[in-house]
Amino acid sequence: MLKLHRSLTAAIAAVMAFSALGDETLLSPDGKMKLQFSLNASGAPQYELFLDNQEIIKPSKLGFEVKNQAPLTDGFELKNVSRSTFNETWAPVWGEEDSIQNHYNELLAELVQPATGRAMNIRFRLYDEGLGLRYEFPSQPNGHDYFIITDEKTEFALPSDMTAYWIPGDYDTQEYDYHVTRLSDIRPTYRNSFTGNVSSSIFSETGVQTSLQLKTDNGKYINIHEAALVDYPAMHLNLNDSTFVFTSHLTPDQRGDKAHIQAPFNTPWRTVMAVDDARKILASRLIYNLNEPSKIEDTSWIKPMKFNGVWWEMIAGQGTWAYTDDFSSVKLDQTDYSKAKPNGRHSANTQNVKRYIDFAADNNLQGVLVEGWNTGWEDWFGNEKDEVFDFVTPYPDFDIKELTDYAKSKGVSLIMHHETSGSTRNYERHLRDAYELMNKYGYPAVKSGYVGNLLPLGLYHYSQEAVNHYLYAVKEAAKHKVMVDAHEAVRPTGLARTYPNLIANESAKGNEYKVKDPWHTSILPFTRLQGGPMDYTPGIFEMDMSKLNPGSRERMEFTIPNQLALYVTMYSPLQMAADLPEHYQKFADAFQFIKDVPVEWSRSEYLEAEPAKYVTVARKDKNSNDWYIGSTAGREGRVSHISLDFLTPGVKYVATIYADAKNADARTNPQAYTITTKKVNSKTTLNIPVVASGGYAIRIIPEKK
Ligand code: NOJ
Ligand code: CA
Repeated sequence: MLKLHRSLTAAIAAVMAFSALGDETLLSPDGKMKLQFSLNASGAPQYELFLDNQEIIKPSKLGFEVKNQAPLTDGFELKNVSRSTFNETWAPVWGEEDSIQNHYNELLAELVQPATGRAMNIRFRLYDEGLGLRYEFPSQPNGHDYFIITDEKTEFALPSDMTAYWIPGDYDTQEYDYHVTRLSDIRPTYRNSFTGNVSSSIFSETGVQTSLQLKTDNGKYINIHEAALVDYPAMHLNLNDSTFVFTSHLTPDQRGDKAHIQAPFNTPWRTVMAVDDARKILASRLIYNLNEPSKIEDTSWIKPMKFNGVWWEMIAGQGTWAYTDDFSSVKLDQTDYSKAKPNGRHSANTQNVKRYIDFAADNNLQGVLVEGWNTGWEDWFGNEKDEVFDFVTPYPDFDIKELTDYAKSKGVSLIMHHETSGSTRNYERHLRDAYELMNKYGYPAVKSGYVGNLLPLGLYHYSQEAVNHYLYAVKEAAKHKVMVDAHEAVRPTGLARTYPNLIANESAKGNEYKVKDPWHTSILPFTRLQGGPMDYTPGIFEMDMSKLNPGSRERMEFTIPNQLALYVTMYSPLQMAADLPEHYQKFADAFQFIKDVPVEWSRSEYLEAEPAKYVTVARKDKNSNDWYIGSTAGREGRVSHISLDFLTPGVKYVATIYADAKNADARTNPQAYTITTKKVNSKTTLNIPVVASGGYAIRIIPEKK
């Protein structure tokens, strides 16, 4: 009787608390976005999102399944709600502009689950262009601070079927071509997805990756991603294709659990952008804004740069990373390279590297990447080998001292390469020595890579432990003043704001695949680039790989002006001029654009954008009054109409326009371009024809008096 009475009082108190705090509404600073948060009748937290009174996300549940504990999905009471407003402007170390506004309204819902004594908070930040929400686990009132998350149950309930620009969910790779289909067509299309990646783990026929771009039938653009992925597995999305509800699907650990957390702990932010114009997705800095400010105090050593590299000749099959054909198996401590016969095709030899250094020095490229410089490449993947590289021992034909001195004398830096072959454990063992070697020889940046299945075996590329590994490598690098460009690591979530030495990632299909897919580069800015810069390796001028390697039948299907445009449309502080020096010498007039284009900007204007169809961006050089424009096209040719009204009124400029020639064709005539100059000013409008898979690039400089 007494017991009943007490629980009745608790129930009445709960109802009172619930009705007292009721449905909570939060508006964006401009009042156009509206978030609603509530607990339903069973105490399950849910949210709903509107743009201009149109429902973008229907009531969607929030919460977790927890191992050996009751779920954190319902039975909650709202203990407290608080609100605040934040508005500040910050200056990124590098980026698409020199200052970024971070303006949001916030709502913090503090929940308790009376049946278990556990506490969980949900923090919402509403921006003009979207929402960030995260879970916060305060120190637990019941003293049990450890949670093994077996599933995160964050829903994104879409109001209807719509268009999705997606790649399959995969625990190990994002190196896929994009599909553009209705949500209802994901399942039938899924089976046609293919990636040549050697490590791939798909999990559901309706699983997709984030950042996911969507478009409603009445022209609203929705983007779902995450921000500040730290000490937690990467989030995928799994679709219920009869209800159009996406649910978060975290990358598992080796036991099949998802995340180990210890309170106090905050999850990454789950983000939903919703806008009425695709250009606003490209202009949004919501993901960066949801990350912490830089933790690196002195950032003077972080220097954006363009580079070339001893790389494409291997990718195209002309040269090899390996030094010799003598060994089919290598044991680093036992293999004697001094007696091995060089294979004659090893690209990273001192003489060849000097050729690239000379080319960089002559052409305004600040760095030279050299892959295949260190021992171990004869036997580097496929065997899930632990001790695969030591990252410090050069091949006999790579004179590290001589090359460093030579590069220095030419004002060029060498860029280090650490292929881990997925062996995270081995990399952690050697990391400090490897960075110290870089410091000794003055290498400012490293390109790292995680090809193949990760070691320890069973570890997925996007699991919590792997996520922790990548960040560990970035933090250790910062201690050594080393910039990092990590390939095959987890896709970025804006962490470069906090660790600006993370100057690029790959984490998507790049030019190394000899990309053919026309809409690829007109989708990536909406998806992969939302989290941070991509080392896409643009600038391929010779599309026919048989010209480099007679045995090859591969070819890329983009025009040269399309490749030039990428230096502007695909922002990165680290941009490669990926093709061979001889191809740039052959098309020297087109290469001039790559020589000129900067990697740091003070302003960006998004002139035209429609996912998969076209992206046109204008950017102002951070160090001059010059402007650069890039435009890419998807499957169809078009005429791009742009106004130069962003130029300073009254100033006379000269524009150099690199465009597709009339007879250009990405497949049969990709090297047909025109270069014209034109006097322009802020009143000029331009109409530039672009072929399918084509583009254009423009340099605009103030006229000399
Ligand atoms: C894959 C990287 O994406 C590529 O750029 C690199 O050359 C190879 N791994 C070898 O490390
Ligand atoms: Ca790759």
